[in-house]
Amino acid sequence: MRGRFITFEGVEGCGKSTQLAHLRDWMEEAGLPVLATREPGGTKVGEGIRELLLTPREEGLDAATELLLYEADRAQHVSEVIRPALEAGTHVLCDRFFDSTTAYQAFGRGLDEEMVLELNRMASGGLVPDLTLLFSVLLEEGLNRARGGSSGDRLEGESLAFHRRVQAGFMVLANREPGRFHALDEGAIEQVHEEVVAIVKERFEWAGNPSAARTRP
Ligand code: TMP
Repeated sequence: MRGRFITFEGVEGCGKSTQLAHLRDWMEEAGLPVLATREPGGTKVGEGIRELLLTPREEGLDAATELLLYEADRAQHVSEVIRPALEAGTHVLCDRFFDSTTAYQAFGRGLDEEMVLELNRMASGGLVPDLTLLFSVLLEEGLNRARGGSSGDRLEGESLAFHRRVQAGFMVLANREPGRFHALDEGAIEQVHEEVVAIVKERFEWAGNPSAARTRP
């Protein structure tokens, strides 16, 4: 059976990467085949693109260049990693996917949304997540956390107004597709993890019985 594709979305510092790691651990314990990956990145080509995208640069990066780099990263990631894994029956957890492009490049940068959606479709080859978990955080707090006391990477260094547009964009997307999105309130790491587990158990009928875990050497 084809694996399930779950994406983790939200603004900077929302805790999605921590939650992804916790769900991966839980799935491994439950004996479910799982692959954790991220965008930008996830492939050799993609890690190079990630560096291009996130390094702060004096000369700036044209918004169209930025958009196309995220899409180029995605095209490689889907064809090299995500699709083969799903077809082999492995569940894929992905830290950001095309909803980030719609939220950051369309809502944040102001690029034409229809054009962004079309490029999303092209780069993902029509692949759509089975479930998208949207994490929330108080924006100022999340940005402080993500920047970790410095000015942060190129995107983290954007204005609060930019990140507010991104956050509002994510909410628009979640409301547009309530069947695919599940928005989670901010909370303690363990509490949010339990909620995530409850969602995937219900949605995919996964059992969390540790006795089903693979025998470890
Ligand atoms: P992160 O994975 O550490 O959050 O860093 C990725 C950064 O790239 C983050 O600021 C969001 C941004 N981003 C976009 O602007 N568009 C995209 O399509 C993706 C995947 C990420």
